[in-house]
Amino acid sequence: MKSRIGIIGKGNVGTILKGGLELAGYQVRAVGNEPKAVVETAKWAELIILAVPFKALDDAVKEMGESANGKPLVDVTNLYSPEMLAAVGSKSGAEVLQEKSQKSKVVKAFNTHFAKNMARGHIGNEQLTFFVAGDDKDAKAKTLELGKDLGFDPVDAGPLSNAKLLEALGNLNIQLGYALGLGADIGFRLVRAKTPP
Ligand SMILES: NC(=O)c1ccc[n+]([C@@H]2O[C@H](COP(=O)([O-])OP(=O)(O)OC[C@H]3O[C@@H](n4cnc5c(N)ncnc54)[C@H](OP(=O)(O)O)[C@@H]3O)[C@@H](O)[C@H]2O)c1
Repeated sequence: MKSRIGIIGKGNVGTILKGGLELAGYQVRAVGNEPKAVVETAKWAELIILAVPFKALDDAVKEMGESANGKPLVDVTNLYSPEMLAAVGSKSGAEVLQEKSQKSKVVKAFNTHFAKNMARGHIGNEQLTFFVAGDDKDAKAKTLELGKDLGFDPVDAGPLSNAKLLEALGNLNIQLGYALGLGADIGFRLVRAKTPP
């Protein structure tokens, strides 16, 4: 039986992920900036995806309250401005989120891809890599499974402190796609000589 997925935020990322996860057989609820619905969705969910802008993280965490306790909390946020980066200092945004939501199990995932590529895990026939960083073994395993079910090649990217690296990779993706003009039909793939079991 697949986990019930609650997505906080139903913009580009929330909407695409809801569609993709439903196709993959998950039960999914996605909510926007409606505090009552946020807490209900977080309570109902077994795994929560936080798909809100960086500046809304504080509010979203407060709205979810204790409903996120003990659950995987998947952080898709990218920190792409000097102000956002200054707000977290030497830490990653995901580690700062873990400090704000101490009883949830924060993992970093999805942020290295553009929303339009998140539901299939592929661009054309090319499979994309799904990096997941986190400290909780079970939360990481469930998130890796979710990426696999969406069609990605899942790769354990280590502890939550490595989220800093994934956030940098997310920024490189944004730079390549927008500032350097490659567009959003791009994505990262880790090439391995051996296919994992
Ligand atoms: N777009 C991409 O390609 C992409 C790729 C990788 C990572 N990301 C990251 O994913 C996150 C979402 O990006 P997006 O493009 O989906 O943004 P978006 O289209 O602007 O959607 C943001 C969503 O967050 C909701 N929201 C705002 N404040 C909230 C609150 N306090 N509680 C609950 N929901 C709240 C908004 O609700 P309302 O509509 O009701 O205001 C909206 O549904 C960002 O952190 C971004 O850095 C985006």
